[in-house]
Amino acid sequence: MTLLTVEGLDVFHGDLQATFGVDLQVAAGEAVAIIGANGAGKSTLLRAIIGLTPARHGTIRLEGEDITRLSCDMIARRGIALVPEGRRLFPSLTVEENLRLGSARARPGPWNLEAAYDLFPAMTDFRHRPAGMLSGGQQQMVAIARALMMNPRLLLCDEVSLGLAPAIIGDIYACFRRIRDSSVSLVLVEQDILRARAASDRVYCLLKGRVTLQGASGEVALDAIRAAYFGEAAA
Ligand SMILES: Nc1ncnc2c1ncn2[C@@H]1O[C@H](COP(=O)(O)OP(=O)(O)OP(=O)(O)O)[C@@H](O)[C@H]1O
Ligand SMILES: [Mg+2]
Repeated sequence: MTLLTVEGLDVFHGDLQATFGVDLQVAAGEAVAIIGANGAGKSTLLRAIIGLTPARHGTIRLEGEDITRLSCDMIARRGIALVPEGRRLFPSLTVEENLRLGSARARPGPWNLEAAYDLFPAMTDFRHRPAGMLSGGQQQMVAIARALMMNPRLLLCDEVSLGLAPAIIGDIYACFRRIRDSSVSLVLVEQDILRARAASDRVYCLLKGRVTLQGASGEVALDAIRAAYFGEAAA
């Protein structure tokens, strides 16, 4: 069953068109990676899906329901959560206060404080520290956990590995398996092609706002992805 269907999506920032007729599908239980260079329109696409930067043309459907014109709040309540680029925690609030804010629009489901600490046991040690005092990796754990507190059906993650050390990135990516086991579908925006392929069932490449390639992660060749990513002819 298709959980999310995006069709013909055009999103603008003022006069600047950031996405051009983007089509995207996410099946229930699936992990989809979106890869592309800086400025390709990856964040814009995620922001349009959660209603933060509304689409000018095209439709977004969640389990068949047209959510294109719904507010962020209504979309959140229907079960789409975003882990935003740059984490966007409240720096002066503690970890636990940040997590509790995530549950403000929560749906019923398995994710609560206890489950969040179980997902990232290290977070227990700094639960009463202000989020602004944490390392990048620690902040990323909190950002993912905060989004999960909404009990989403679909979790959109925008470049969770950006600026983090490889060991920490491994820890963060390890959580996605458990998140999927809780019946949450995933969209992972990632610039690292290998990591994106390894963590997903299907990949989409975005180049200058257009989908240039899509396919099963285990089947699309690395050369084809690189070509679709950088806009070069495949070797
Ligand atoms: N708030 C904004 N106002 C104006 N233009 C914007 C805004 N946000 C993004 N853009 C432009 O829209 C285009 C797509 O940007 P977007 O941030 O979606 O790309 P991205 O693929 O997420 O890039 P990155 O990998 O750097 O995060 C770029 O040309 C960018 O400059
Ligand atoms: Mg981005």
